[in-house]
Amino acid sequence: MIELVEVLVRFRPSGRSVRVPLGTTLLEASRRAELPVARTCGGDGLCGRCGLRILSGVASLPREAEDEMRVKRNQRVDPAERLACRIALTDDVEVTARYWALEQRG
Ligand code: FES
Repeated sequence: MIELVEVLVRFRPSGRSVRVPLGTTLLEASRRAELPVARTCGGDGLCGRCGLRILSGVASLPREAEDEMRVKRNQRVDPAERLACRIALTDDVEVTARYWALEQRG
């Protein structure tokens, strides 16, 4: 029997949360929570638009690879953000985006 391991992703400030299979990207988890994530490259890790701030669970994330750091530098992404399309989740996290607070005001 195959055990499906899931992780919990919490989104602030909305308070939404989703459980997704281990290895799901943070971009896909955000989609499942029906929260918009800016992007122009289709999730290929090139545009640098999908930056999210990790509020908790940072230690569980894979270290930033040099190519992620390069895209962030070139696209002037806040160094405190991670590219959601490049993060395969391995544990529970809590995240936010600058524009989600505006979304909530609606
Ligand atoms: S969607 Fe373009 S870098 Fe993540």
